[in-house]
Amino acid sequence: MKRIAVLTSGGDAPGMNAAIRAVVRTGLGYGWEVCGVRHGYAGLIAGEMDPLSARDVGGVLQRGGTVLGSARSPEFETLEGREKALRSLNEHEVEALVVIGGNGSQTGACRLSEMGFPVVGVASTIDNDLVGSDITIGVDTALNIALEAIDRLKTTASSHHRAFLVEVMGRRCGYLALMAAIAGGAEAVALPEVETDPEALATELHAAYLRGKPHALVVVAEGATYNAEGLAAYFRDHKDRLGFDLRVTTLGHVQRGGAPGAFDRILATRLGGGATEALRRGESGVLVGDIQGEIRTTPLAEVVGKQKSLDPWLIKLAGVLAK
Ligand code: F6P
Repeated sequence: MKRIAVLTSGGDAPGMNAAIRAVVRTGLGYGWEVCGVRHGYAGLIAGEMDPLSARDVGGVLQRGGTVLGSARSPEFETLEGREKALRSLNEHEVEALVVIGGNGSQTGACRLSEMGFPVVGVASTIDNDLVGSDITIGVDTALNIALEAIDRLKTTASSHHRAFLVEVMGRRCGYLALMAAIAGGAEAVALPEVETDPEALATELHAAYLRGKPHALVVVAEGATYNAEGLAAYFRDHKDRLGFDLRVTTLGHVQRGGAPGAFDRILATRLGGGATEALRRGESGVLVGDIQGEIRTTPLAEVVGKQKSLDPWLIKLAGVLAK
């Protein structure tokens, strides 16, 4: 191997920079050249890539986002787009590609690998929905950001005897919502994986009011049957039905920004280092993830088109603890 390339794709996640740094510096350590591709698959198609030195990735460990830039590229989803990307890799004499990203990005990586190009994926998404890694880069930081907001909202909710609907990210996967609800001591949680019954939720909140709770906090995943605004609209006459007056806070992209915590920096460094090690062993067409505390590879074909499921015991536990 003489030259590899690395890109970040899809939603940025805190820790991506630590993964880029690890790929670059371990690759250089093996005597390879490592190119950084700008703006994900869109930049790959456009041939936006340059060799990176160890210095180029200095001071990035503590920065949020991705210094390479990211994108969601509809063109890469077409065969024509992927053929352009392959031509661009060949023109730049790149022999293997590391793709740091989540579900959509790893689907792209799998397609490229099926076309005969060596690709290794690194599990990175705040959604934590990827099969092939127990935990993905960015989740821990995003969760801590959500928790800080929840703690703050509880204070003001208690002062005013209010209920809050707090919407967190997660279009298809409720991991972030469930963990934020458990760690934040929420009164209820709405997940994409479980059909939300607004009547049952109203009864729960009213029961919490009658039990004398000074506040009620519902963590709502953006992809739940009703998002936070949808639920609030459903509870239009909320004060009469819930007991509590109701407010809505949508955290949105706040959860993706900011400096990565220690856990994500270390996880990203291990996975980035694991990616070049896999290539060095001659492995490709795989996702590098953390499985039971160890860096393991899983064939991309077994990763794409699937979604890691939530632990049903934890869903049940969240309900019991909310009482
Ligand atoms: O996949 C990560 C994620 O943050 C999801 O939780 C969210 O639904 C989506 O990206 C938002 O995408 P965008 O940044 O393109 O609006």
